[in-house]
Amino acid sequence: MINLLQSFSYIISLVTLIALLITPSSCKTNNYLINCGAPTTTSADNQTWNTDENPTFAPSTSYKDNTKVAHVINEDPSYSGKPPCSGARIFHSPFTYSFPVSPGPKIVRLYFYTSATYDNTSVDNFFLTLKADGGSGSFTLLGNFSAYLHQQFFKNSIPLPIVVKEFLVMATSSRLNLTFSPTLTGSLAFVNGIEIIAVPDNLYDYFNPQSSDETSSSNRSPPIGCFPAKTNVGSQLPFSILRPTALETVRRLNVGGSDVISEMDSGGMSRTWYNDANYIGGNFKGAIPNPNRTLITDISYTIVPKYTAPNLVYWTARIMGPYNNSFKLKNNITWAFSVDSGFDYLIRLHFCEIDPSVTNRRQREFEVLVNNEQADNEVDPFHLGNSLRSTPVCKDYVTSIYEGSSKASLSITLRPDTGSYLTYHDVILNGLEIFKMSQPNGNLAGPNPVLPGDPNRPNKPNSLPPRGGTNSNHLIEILVGVLGSVVFIALVIASAFCWLLRESSQNYCKRLLPSNGSGFSSTSSGGSSLPSHLCHCFTLQQIMVATNNFDDHFVIGVGGFGKVYKGSITINGGTEIMVAIKRLNPSSKQGALEFHTEIVMLTTLRHVHLVSLIGFCDENGEMVLVYDYMPLGTLQDHLYHKYSFRHSDKMDTPIYAPMSWKQRLLTCIRAARGLHYLHTGTGRVIIHRDVKSTNILLDKNWIAKVSDFGISKVGPSMKEGAPTYVSTIVKGSIGYLDPEYIRLKQLTEKSDVYSFGVVLFEVLCARPAMMPLLPNEQVNLARYAKRCYEEGTLHEIVDPNVRDEIAPVCLRKFGEIAEMCVRDQGSKRPSMEEVVWYLEFALKLQETDENNNEITTSSIIPN
Ligand SMILES: *[C@@H]1O[C@H](CO)[C@@H](O)[C@H](O)[C@H]1NC(C)=O
Ligand SMILES: *[C@@H]1O[C@H](CO)[C@@H](O)[C@H](O)[C@H]1NC(C)=O
Ligand SMILES: *[C@@H]1O[C@H](CO)[C@@H](O)[C@H](O)[C@H]1NC(C)=O
Ligand SMILES: *[C@@H]1O[C@H](CO)[C@@H](O)[C@H](O)[C@H]1NC(C)=O
Ligand SMILES: *[C@@H]1O[C@H](CO)[C@@H](O)[C@H](O)[C@H]1NC(C)=O
Ligand SMILES: *[C@@H]1O[C@H](CO)[C@@H](O)[C@H](O)[C@H]1NC(C)=O
Ligand SMILES: *[C@@H]1O[C@H](CO)[C@@H](O)[C@H](O)[C@H]1NC(C)=O
Repeated sequence: MINLLQSFSYIISLVTLIALLITPSSCKTNNYLINCGAPTTTSADNQTWNTDENPTFAPSTSYKDNTKVAHVINEDPSYSGKPPCSGARIFHSPFTYSFPVSPGPKIVRLYFYTSATYDNTSVDNFFLTLKADGGSGSFTLLGNFSAYLHQQFFKNSIPLPIVVKEFLVMATSSRLNLTFSPTLTGSLAFVNGIEIIAVPDNLYDYFNPQSSDETSSSNRSPPIGCFPAKTNVGSQLPFSILRPTALETVRRLNVGGSDVISEMDSGGMSRTWYNDANYIGGNFKGAIPNPNRTLITDISYTIVPKYTAPNLVYWTARIMGPYNNSFKLKNNITWAFSVDSGFDYLIRLHFCEIDPSVTNRRQREFEVLVNNEQADNEVDPFHLGNSLRSTPVCKDYVTSIYEGSSKASLSITLRPDTGSYLTYHDVILNGLEIFKMSQPNGNLAGPNPVLPGDPNRPNKPNSLPPRGGTNSNHLIEILVGVLGSVVFIALVIASAFCWLLRESSQNYCKRLLPSNGSGFSSTSSGGSSLPSHLCHCFTLQQIMVATNNFDDHFVIGVGGFGKVYKGSITINGGTEIMVAIKRLNPSSKQGALEFHTEIVMLTTLRHVHLVSLIGFCDENGEMVLVYDYMPLGTLQDHLYHKYSFRHSDKMDTPIYAPMSWKQRLLTCIRAARGLHYLHTGTGRVIIHRDVKSTNILLDKNWIAKVSDFGISKVGPSMKEGAPTYVSTIVKGSIGYLDPEYIRLKQLTEKSDVYSFGVVLFEVLCARPAMMPLLPNEQVNLARYAKRCYEEGTLHEIVDPNVRDEIAPVCLRKFGEIAEMCVRDQGSKRPSMEEVVWYLEFALKLQETDENNNEITTSSIIPN
């Protein structure tokens, strides 16, 4: 408390002097420190507070007619006689101060001292409306403003009797006019101090209309070092300011550190950076590195200029701290604020990597969420700081808040990025600024806070439920429960198998399959391309013959489970069919269980878009699964592995021409139907868990079939280029993994939807899901393509082989579907059923477009 009181005495200090010394542009500007309703006074720290009664600011008649100097009865002796608390000006009708200024952005700071009565009137009787005009229109900074109510409401987080309101207003003319008036005629308003400070032109570059025209925007100097807000968080709409705008500072925090008093601010702007502890919204507060500032390095202002924020802000931070990865992935640090509803907000986050153990990019990559909507990911301050420590950067975000009647909650969440190639998981934040942006009509004013105990009190601050609600969580719980029981049943059946198999493999085959071998009839809607639906129990001898003793020449695929061979095998006493033979790695014990699980799963699943299991072999520790052979290989082969040598009968030949766009669409639709059947077609939820382009196979008629389903995965794909790190708990393939699954370790069928969305982008762009050697922002296809989609540049990354073929309207739809699938929150992704429907619609769009073109073309052809 004492610190805070002391810090206030510094708030008003050295402003003009520092501004003159530090801000080069301020040489030609006028800064003001005005003591309202009182004579010019020098404060204890030698700040000169000039009297407001100055003919330059307003004609003396206007002072007389509209205002009076208050008789102040000070209730707190420690403030007595100290500017700006020594006097006050009272307005009984509208009064304009007109300050000569040089054009440019200005901070307008107003001081309201509440521990006093003015003219024997208690402070709760004053309601002020304040308008500002710097030449680009009138902005209502305050409307019906009660300093008393604000002081009471914020007294726990800012225990001072002085309310400071700070605004940023653009002066485009040589005058900045501030008009004070009582809200209701016949009532009163007061102010104690006014401060006007020039701000560097590009520090908060959100004042002026931004033309979307490239040439004119390149003439503007860019916002200095700060990554500007591109989209409006939550709406995906591109963000740009189309009108003159004024800002109000809502909060300015020194995260993890103590208050930075105005005297210590950089750039001479006398900004106060408050400690953030009062605003931590969740239970987890993280850790504060360098609490005693023992680790003070030179902050190198090579990217942002020194006036962006003082080094005291960068020296402290909040991180997650010494917890294990699993804990950090599940948790987050959230700051929550009560704000006025009905406005756009600008959020500026200040980052500076100060941890000496961070020596490389990707050691700290995290996501930023605003009101639970993802605003950013792969934020890596070390990397952003040109791979140098102690180099501050900042990033801006904009969000619209239109919830609630008057007050709403604004939360900012940092949580580690789930990038599965990351071995470190943590976040960092050094500073935080939130600004409210004026409405189209120039209004910035919100309602007064409602004090606790007031019967009209609508809502506790920050008590609004987070977006996204609780229903979706409930759904996940149910699904997890369902999945749990599916897995449990499968395990029970599988252990029964083990017992049976121990007894005798042959007996087991006999029991399961009636002697005529037709034990499994098609019960599903889809049917199968096999002549009959059998599950054979093959002898090892048969398998050895078929694969020429597991000859590597017969290998058509390799995975974490082992190798897949091609072979021909005789069934039902004569029919020879081509099969794919999956030989599980005998070394894996876990493999045995999954092997049996897959048999149980597969024998009960029949669908035209699922690869059929023909039989299996379990002899001498060999675990072999025999599938219908898919002669055209994997979907991936047709997208970008154009020179595959894996098919022994097509050695040395570039095997496939690129697939046409319509073929790709059909393949996606079919695979989606297969997955839809898996999710819902059997009366239980079966989650594939490893949807990717190598698990979608094509039969000789180009019909797509999903393979490798069930819980058959033993390890990650060993595909080229894929990094090897995968959490031991989370299974799946890197680049396809649902971030929510990584975070919560809870699998839902929406995880398959995510992976399928990655496949859709793969189909569109013909590139792998992960390409670690590309620049950071392109490594992960899902994120890269999603960003391109949001920025409207998706067409630029479309596979050149289909770029001309794809109808723009179809591309738009397809991009939209894929984007929905890879949304961060499972609850916001569509179901596979919806995906099927959307893709069919996309195909229709494509066909309609082609037909139209044909008609047009033919009509042009002269007779
Ligand atoms: C203020 O100025 C006076 C006279 O110039 C000087 O004696 C005093 O030390 C100064 N006080 C501070 C706090 O700088
Ligand atoms: C304030 O009240 C005191 C005592 O009631 C009175 O003497 C004084 O004149 C009043 N001042 C004003 C400005 O009304
Ligand atoms: C500010 O007020 C002065 C004096 O009343 C007036 O001449 C000027 O036009 C006003 N400027 C703006 C930008 O409103
Ligand atoms: C920081 O200072 C406090 C109080 O002086 C002390 O108790 C604490 O151990 C110090 N922490 C570190 C990490 O030096
Ligand atoms: C991680 O830490 C949490 C609590 O700090 C603990 O409950 C959990 O068991 C740990 N997990 C692992 C995998 O070590
Ligand atoms: C943050 O963590 C809390 C639990 O610690 C959780 O309830 C909340 O959903 C998380 N928020 C986000 C945006 O991840
Ligand atoms: C002004 O604010 C007060 C307190 O919040 C409220 O009771 C009053 O109705 C408001 N008046 C107007 C005109 O908005």
